[in-house]
Amino acid sequence: MIRLENIRKAYDAATSGAVLKGLSVSIEAAEFVAILGRSGSGKTTLLNIIGGLDRDYEGEAVVLGKSLRTLSDKEMSAFRNHTISFVFQSFNLMPHLTCRENVAFPDFFRKGSRAGDARALAQKAMERVGIIHKADSYPNRLSGGERQRVAIARAIFQKPAILLADEPTGNLDTKSSQHIMDLFLELKREDNMSVILVTHDEELAARADRIIRIVDGLVAGDGGGQ
Ligand SMILES: Nc1ncnc2c1ncn2[C@@H]1O[C@H](COP(=O)(O)OP(=O)(O)OP(=O)(O)O)[C@@H](O)[C@H]1O
Ligand SMILES: [Mg+2]
Repeated sequence: MIRLENIRKAYDAATSGAVLKGLSVSIEAAEFVAILGRSGSGKTTLLNIIGGLDRDYEGEAVVLGKSLRTLSDKEMSAFRNHTISFVFQSFNLMPHLTCRENVAFPDFFRKGSRAGDARALAQKAMERVGIIHKADSYPNRLSGGERQRVAIARAIFQKPAILLADEPTGNLDTKSSQHIMDLFLELKREDNMSVILVTHDEELAARADRIIRIVDGLVAGDGGGQ
C-alpha cells in the first residue's frame, strides 16, 4: 500500500543537515498507524512525502503501486484526489462557508464534478462522522471537536484509501480527542481506510494497530499498539 525505502530529506543541507536520514517503512491497507516523535523529528515531513505534497527527497516512495516522484503535477493531483486525504490540527475550515459547503468545497476543483453529486456526497460524509445536525452552521459556531468532524467529513468525501492526520487532536480536550480517535478507528474498520496519525499523545497512539517512533530522522521503534 505504502512503501518508503531509504528516504532522505534535507530542507537545507548546507545549514541543518538531513531531517529524514534513510527512513524505510511499509504500511498496509486498512492498517492504523500512529507516528510518535519529538517536535522537529520529521513527522510532518514524512506525511508530506507520503501524501505527495513534497517530492523533493531521495529514496523511493511508492503509494498504491505508483512511485510518487515519477508523477507529473497533474497526475499527482489526480492521483491524490481519489486516494489520499489530509486532516490537520488547525482544521483549516473556511469561515465564510457553511459546514456543508466546506465539506463539498474541494470538489469545485475536480474536473467533471456535478453540484448535485457533491451535495449527496457531502451529506453522506457528514452523516458518516456524526455532524449532519450542524451541516448548515458556520464553523465558528462549532466546538473544536465538531470542527474536526467537519474537516474529517471533507477528508473522506471522496472515500480515500489513505487518511493522513497530522496532530488532529492537538487543539482538542481529552474527551473530544478520544471521540475523534473512535471515529478514525471506525473508518479503518468499516471503510478499510489506512489511517496514519501523527500525535504526541501516547494514550491515543496505544489504540492504533501499530506505533512507529521516529528519532533523529529514522524509525527507532515499530510495534503493536493495543
Ligand atoms: N519548509 C521547511 N523549510 C526548512 N526547514 C523545515 C521546513 N519544514 C520543516 N523544517 C525543519 O525540519 C525539521 C522537521 O520538521 P517537521 O515539521 O517534519 O517536524 P515534526 O516532527 O512534524 O515536528 P512537530 O511535532 O513540532 O510538528 C525541523 O527541524 C524543521 O525546522
Ligand atoms: Mg509536525
